[in-house]
Amino acid sequence: MDGVNLDKLPILKHNERDGGRYISSAVVVTKDPEFGQNLDFHRAMQFSESRMSTRIIKGRDFYKFLERTGEVEAAYCVGNTPNILVAAATSVKTGINELEIANALAKTEVTKAHSVDLLIPAGCEVVLEGKVFMKDRAEEGPFIDLTETYDITRDEPVFEVKTVTHRKNPVWQALVPGALEHKVLMGMPREPTIFKSVNEAGVKCLDVNVNPGGSSWLHAIVRIDKQNEEDGKKAIRAAFAGHRSCKHVFVVDKDIDIYNPLEVEWSMATRFQAERDLVDMGKEPGSSLDPSAEPGTKITNKIGFDFTAPLVTKGKSFTRAEFPEVDLKDYM
Ligand SMILES: Cc1cc2nc3c(=O)[nH]c(=O)nc-3n(C[C@H](O)[C@H](O)[C@H](O)COP(=O)(O)O)c2cc1C
Repeated sequence: MDGVNLDKLPILKHNERDGGRYISSAVVVTKDPEFGQNLDFHRAMQFSESRMSTRIIKGRDFYKFLERTGEVEAAYCVGNTPNILVAAATSVKTGINELEIANALAKTEVTKAHSVDLLIPAGCEVVLEGKVFMKDRAEEGPFIDLTETYDITRDEPVFEVKTVTHRKNPVWQALVPGALEHKVLMGMPREPTIFKSVNEAGVKCLDVNVNPGGSSWLHAIVRIDKQNEEDGKKAIRAAFAGHRSCKHVFVVDKDIDIYNPLEVEWSMATRFQAERDLVDMGKEPGSSLDPSAEPGTKITNKIGFDFTAPLVTKGKSFTRAEFPEVDLKDYM
């Protein structure tokens, strides 16, 4: 585009109380002299023709890059294929270029950005190139977050847009904040980190669901093949280690379908005794997304629920009775 005028782009105001027009779907490409390129998501709110405030949570790779140099070149890429979106949503060791993960999922061509020294996905629709400044800050928010509640307004780094490029007849990709498309991208990459952590703790983990009911961030349902009486509690501690923002962990036996909330609740109703099976992890930093966490510090009370049945049955059976298969022809 000739010159930069963000008013000419179809940046959406998603809901009435939003602080402004927001880019919610952009994959942000950045680079550090030591660690190389990184991909992640950072929502950005327009407040002038060329400037946006962009939410960068402490601990993110982009935040680390900004802390080191004070200003970082960035390309906000809008309109990406699913492999790039999923790769950008994963949180891997600093220094691993998520574009390589995208390429492992589906062939990903890259191209040089026009005005910044970055390789960006060649197929994306619109690219906003410029610089993000740690010390130049502006109000960001309110905006709906993953929990479907409004996030507070904060002072966040400014993104100064220098160049805008786009495909011919570009399609603007929007992402509805808090909706399932947001939730899947946030929650899904935490499932393998929990799975790995539980298995490394010596418990056979079969599956993990960071479920939408828990805002795809605050809850994890962990299915295990219980071999020892302590496995449930071990799995709880390991799951929290595998996802630091998690607030409640639910561990179930292998006969429970973790994608069916009724089955998970049934295992609580029939197998759980609070005095014996509840693990209180105490107060720890959790997630800034949780409205019930202590404002400012993220301090939250983390609790684990062991819904697995004891290995030795002393009273009633813990197994759901199965009805035998019938052949309707025998009765018709
Ligand atoms: C749709 C979506 C929006 C997100 N928005 C933000 C955001 O505004 N600020 C932020 O710091 N993280 C946001 N995140 C989370 C990070 O981008 C994500 O955890 C990323 O994997 C962090 O990558 P890193 O480990 O390379 O820093 C968002 C994630 C998704 C999927």
